[in-house]
Amino acid sequence: MSSQEMVTLTDRESVRQWLRENREARRSVGFVPTMGALHAGHIHLVSQSLAQTDRTVVSIFVNPAQFAPGEDFDRYPRLPDEDREMLRQAGCHALFYPDMTAIYPPGFQTKVMVEPLGSELCGRERPGHFQGVATVVAVLLNLVRADKAFFGLKDFQQFVIIRRLVQDLGMDVDIVGVPTVRENDGLAMSSRNRYLTGEDRRRATGIHAALSAARIAFESGEREAGRLEAIARRILIEAGIHRIQYISVRAAATLMPVKTVLADGVILAAVKVGDTRLIDNMLLIAPG
Ligand code: PAJ
Repeated sequence: MSSQEMVTLTDRESVRQWLRENREARRSVGFVPTMGALHAGHIHLVSQSLAQTDRTVVSIFVNPAQFAPGEDFDRYPRLPDEDREMLRQAGCHALFYPDMTAIYPPGFQTKVMVEPLGSELCGRERPGHFQGVATVVAVLLNLVRADKAFFGLKDFQQFVIIRRLVQDLGMDVDIVGVPTVRENDGLAMSSRNRYLTGEDRRRATGIHAALSAARIAFESGEREAGRLEAIARRILIEAGIHRIQYISVRAAATLMPVKTVLADGVILAAVKVGDTRLIDNMLLIAPG
């Protein structure tokens, strides 16, 4: 399985043709959208798709619409050769590597908004970000008519928004959420981790430590959102992370704010370590 041919699709018509062939052969299709600079977290999504469907297609497209002016669009890592090799080794069947016009044909005007969900949390810090994500994901899911599409719970708000979008627009695809893959020291894997050097890399482990402390308190019976947030905040600061964009306990199903965690909750954090913005979250699921 590891050294098979992997086809590369670059335009809309070749994607349609590939889908047609698989449909005729009655094979199910799994889809993993990415922006490349692949790491073990992405590959875990690919392996989930390989396990659950007959054919897996991964897209790599650094979507300008989801970067605000002044963000890292220009310096976002682009590693096409390494990415292709990782996907081939993982056993991926097809790479969708579109050029700009395959996603945004000339004259493109459509925007997809999931509101108010898209203006909360990361949306508050990054205006327009989730509109860019929702729009590109709607285009991608319409082009790649997969049976299942796989998204990481690392980007928990993105996952909830995409699930909402698919439900609202009546898209015929199962959205599968995949648990976060972490480095040995707990740091959630991210394409942006390669920006972290020396002391900042060490400091970044404070994020997982902070969220874990909140979860331990939760498991010991603490249910007040404010207290759980305070526990996590204190550990971030002790770890030398002072630029906390948010630390927030929400309902896991809807991301609505909660005062007391009664049903399943999630604690989400966004911080800056050096120049790098990092996000992470942890589910708060009552034991038993
Ligand atoms: P990107 O950041 O490349 O992530 C692609 C997918 O990998 C997302 O579903 C993300 O949640 C998942 N992922 C990233 N790090 C992970 C980790 N450590 N463990 C598990 N899954 C992880 O998210 C995007 O791209 C874009 O916004 C996209 C959805 C492709 C739209 O442009």
